[in-house]
Amino acid sequence: MRRLLVPFLFGCAALIAAMNFEPRYEASGQMLIPDGYRQWQFVGSNMGIGYDASIKKGTFKNIYIQPEAYRTFKATGKFPDKTVLVMEVFSAGEKAAPAKTGHFEEKFLGIEAAVKDEGKFPTEKWAYYNFIAQSGGALKSAKAFPKEACWNCHNEHAKVDNVFVQFYPALRD
Ligand code: HEC
Repeated sequence: MRRLLVPFLFGCAALIAAMNFEPRYEASGQMLIPDGYRQWQFVGSNMGIGYDASIKKGTFKNIYIQPEAYRTFKATGKFPDKTVLVMEVFSAGEKAAPAKTGHFEEKFLGIEAAVKDEGKFPTEKWAYYNFIAQSGGALKSAKAFPKEACWNCHNEHAKVDNVFVQFYPALRD
């Protein structure tokens, strides 16, 4: 019986790891770019909100959260440790046939992430990353920004625990 138990537990652990995305880091401490987020829970999108000079105005942003963190938030009103919110950025295209007015999500510019990691950041709890290379394209890993760059604004203006829940219908309703 015991001979079967160990492989069974390893199997379960592997399955859970595949289901629950957790932030992963390089030895240097840089966070590895999250993948698979298009299968996560979509919470909301924004068009043209500008708050970071390095991001062009007039971009579309779509925000996703891991399904498990979403369920926990809906049940408890709290974001669990290891919550990751991915924000993907698209340029705004226009006048593609048959559309005569309006904008659509055209070129994929890359992703940013907000990560709650209480073990790694016991005081701030949340860290912020940008995986968009200056020269275009994606970075394999990124360094957490200093507090003044991202955390301060999120902490001051975001409605719930540093997250801009007020802009995300799937979280605020
Ligand atoms: C001046 C305020 C401000 C600063 C500074 C700021 N943000 Fe945000 N952030 C926002 C607002 C407002 C939103 C809501 C959605 C949007 O803008 O598209 C947001 C949303 C996000 C989200 C989606 C998840 C969430 O927490 O709501 C991520 C990821 C994010 N920001 C990353 C960053 C990163 C990385 C930096 C630093 C380079 C940064 N932010 C700096 C205001 C700010």
